[in-house]
Amino acid sequence: MKRRLVTSALPYVNNVPHLGNLIQVLSADVFSRGSRLRGFETLYICGTDEYGTATETKAAEEGVTPAELCTRFYAIHRDIYQWFGIAFDKFGRTSTPRQTEIVQQLFKDIDAAGYVSEQTIEQLYCDPCGRFLADRYVRGTCPHCAYADARGDQCESCGKLLEPTELEQPKCSTCGATPRSRPTRHLYIDLPAIRPKLEAWMKEASVKGFWANNAVQMTQAWIRDGLKPRAITRDLKWGIPVPKAGFEDKVFYVWFDAPIGYISMTATLGDEKGFDYQDWWKSPEDVELYQFIGKDNIPFHTVIFPSTLLGSGRKWTMLHHMSSTEYLNYESGKFSKSKGVGVFGTDVMETGIPADVWRFYIFYNRPEKSDVTFTWNDFMERVNGELIGNLGNLANRTLAFIQRFYEGAIPAGKPDEAFWKEVRSLEAAAAAQLDRAELRDAFRTAFQIADIANKRFQAEEPWKARTADPEKAASLLSDLCYVLRDLSIIMHPYMPQAMSQLAGFFGLSVASAAGAQGMSWADVGKLEGLSRVDSVEVLFQKLEADKVAELRDRYSGSQKERAERDARQAHRSPGRENHQD
Ligand code: 2FM
Ligand code: ZN
Repeated sequence: MKRRLVTSALPYVNNVPHLGNLIQVLSADVFSRGSRLRGFETLYICGTDEYGTATETKAAEEGVTPAELCTRFYAIHRDIYQWFGIAFDKFGRTSTPRQTEIVQQLFKDIDAAGYVSEQTIEQLYCDPCGRFLADRYVRGTCPHCAYADARGDQCESCGKLLEPTELEQPKCSTCGATPRSRPTRHLYIDLPAIRPKLEAWMKEASVKGFWANNAVQMTQAWIRDGLKPRAITRDLKWGIPVPKAGFEDKVFYVWFDAPIGYISMTATLGDEKGFDYQDWWKSPEDVELYQFIGKDNIPFHTVIFPSTLLGSGRKWTMLHHMSSTEYLNYESGKFSKSKGVGVFGTDVMETGIPADVWRFYIFYNRPEKSDVTFTWNDFMERVNGELIGNLGNLANRTLAFIQRFYEGAIPAGKPDEAFWKEVRSLEAAAAAQLDRAELRDAFRTAFQIADIANKRFQAEEPWKARTADPEKAASLLSDLCYVLRDLSIIMHPYMPQAMSQLAGFFGLSVASAAGAQGMSWADVGKLEGLSRVDSVEVLFQKLEADKVAELRDRYSGSQKERAERDARQAHRSPGRENHQD
């Protein structure tokens, strides 16, 4: 069995993540928990992506240093993910000595191998600000889709990667002035020269690693449409110094260093725990790398990062499976960090709705093959209908019945073979789906199991059978307890708290987090090990329509509009001297 190295896209530290961003961190969590349950030695690495213009601009806006900003946002991100119950092996940062060391070494390797070129280019320079405008320091009209507020590195509307000089009507995003062109020298990774290696690798890896379809399409398009050399240096201060004569005043482009963060965070963990990161990252024979990202990050993970690794001439653990989700839209629009639209991690934490309920909805609707829209109404209907009406109901009615009529002792009954045949085939399907990172499908398969168990409860009427046909009632109740035990394992990666609680009703626990003790997938389908129902509590509380309507109103509009609304309300509240409105 190969070991599994799991990563989720490293979030920028210039903002609080919204539900759309959280999908990746949560997906890698479910996958790595599932992998541990399935018996794979697993390492889940994530952390904050700290360098580059996004941080520099935000820090300038807030009047703090980039390092201070990063430290503050690192803690915000860490706390949100902790609240969501993410079991990282390491949640690191890119602003570490290990990052500098590994990025500089990789650069030296590709340079020595002849894959780095130098070019003098014309770049946008802002006279009032006295500097070159890299990436997000410039905004303008997208040449592909005419979106008027595209960033210099990527158009948020059509998703195309851009060079700042391609923008029409460019403006400096700091002062609004129109920049002028000026020559400057940069280093490039020579993607055309690496192309033969990249193409051969991609052809095989995408099939072997069953990449998501959007990743295959986009990567093929990139290779087909002609790879160009890509600049890997920038005129900034906040970044990793370029170890080459003549480039002392430049740093590496954040997208060159960011993916290397996966490696350096593993190295930092290794330093803490006493292992060598190369044991994971230079072991292609026995480690498989699974990466979870949003579709806007695909080319960085399937073209640029792999080209860096291939070009270095060393034997790296390369991407195996690419899980690149589509977008999560919000009510009638789009989640947007920059515009502040959507439900943000910090909002979610104050709703009073438990993390597992959010996790349920996110995975039940994970945008695996097409975009999905979050609406408060759909959220309420799915939670009340499927999570509570199906799973919660099965647990509650079965376990309460045993407590009430059997004093908590699970009656010994003969397993119903036809029922188990169906359940076992669904359990096998869920295992196969989980192994292929089809997280939504595996989750829905688990709900199908709950559904057939509920139907059997209904059909066999234990409230009558208990006295009319005690053997039949015993068979039913015992089978359903084993189904619930199985579900507590299968659904544990998705809803770790609630499924620990469910397993706890039988006096058991599940081991999906690193170092945890308890049941694993090897216990699924075993018809032994249960004797009593120790306790029963309601697993999930129903979402009430008025509460949901209140949340919808509270989180409508952008974060800015919400803040203004809150301020107006505070203003109007009684007891204030100023009643002007
Ligand atoms: O889009 C983002 O939020 C980037 N910070 C993702 C980086 S992923 C990896 F390459 F580090
Ligand atoms: Zn565009």
